Amino acid sequence: MVMLIMISMMMVNMARSEMHLVGGNKFSWAPNVNLTQWSMHEHFHVHDWLYFGYDRHMYNVLEVNKTSYENCIDKDFVKNITKGGGRDVFELNEVKTYYFLSSGGFCWNGLKVAINVEDFAAPAPSPVSPKKSSSCTIGVNKNLVILLILMWGIIFKLQ
Ligand SMILES: *[C@@H]1O[C@H](CO)[C@@H](O)[C@H](O)[C@H]1NC(C)=O
Ligand SMILES: *[C@@H]1O[C@H](CO)[C@@H](O)[C@H](O)[C@H]1NC(C)=O
Ligand SMILES: *[C@@H]1O[C@H](CO)[C@@H](O)[C@H](O)[C@H]1NC(C)=O
Repeated sequence: MVMLIMISMMMVNMARSEMHLVGGNKFSWAPNVNLTQWSMHEHFHVHDWLYFGYDRHMYNVLEVNKTSYENCIDKDFVKNITKGGGRDVFELNEVKTYYFLSSGGFCWNGLKVAINVEDFAAPAPSPVSPKKSSSCTIGVNKNLVILLILMWGIIFKLQ
């Protein structure tokens, strides 16, 4: 019984995905923000989301590869994240490093970020500040909730 509760709790934890406000707040995809410093202090996991909030008349969001990120090349990008409203979201689907930049020359002023996505199973890396203000939980996977409810149903039937 205790075992089952523990498993249930673990599953809920695993299903928790976070929304990361890139740069730390709702309007900080901007050149004057140190995005490297921001991403260094965040933990990104698979199925977390990024939120890019910015001035849509100035900037955009493109996913690029490492070479393009390092050299601020906005041609032949991997994916155009820009939807046009200055509020873009992106789901981190893989354990890898994602690279984003803005075209229009703003990359040269620091408008780029590398996002290192970690596996849940990976051991906790170097200690991080407990500051969590730039993240918020956006809920639990619906299928898992249903599964948990079913599991509890079975447990109660057995008793
Ligand atoms: C941003 O922060 C990083 C890490 O603290 C630092 O190494 C880098 O020099 C900063 N960049 C700028 C442009 O201030
Ligand atoms: C990155 O993308 C550019 C442009 O498509 C390409 O020329 C380059 O070979 C790519 N680099 C890597 C490491 O994939
Ligand atoms: C990215 O997509 C948006 C919306 O479809 C479009 O307006 C914009 O021109 C695209 N940007 C690039 C660099 O292709």
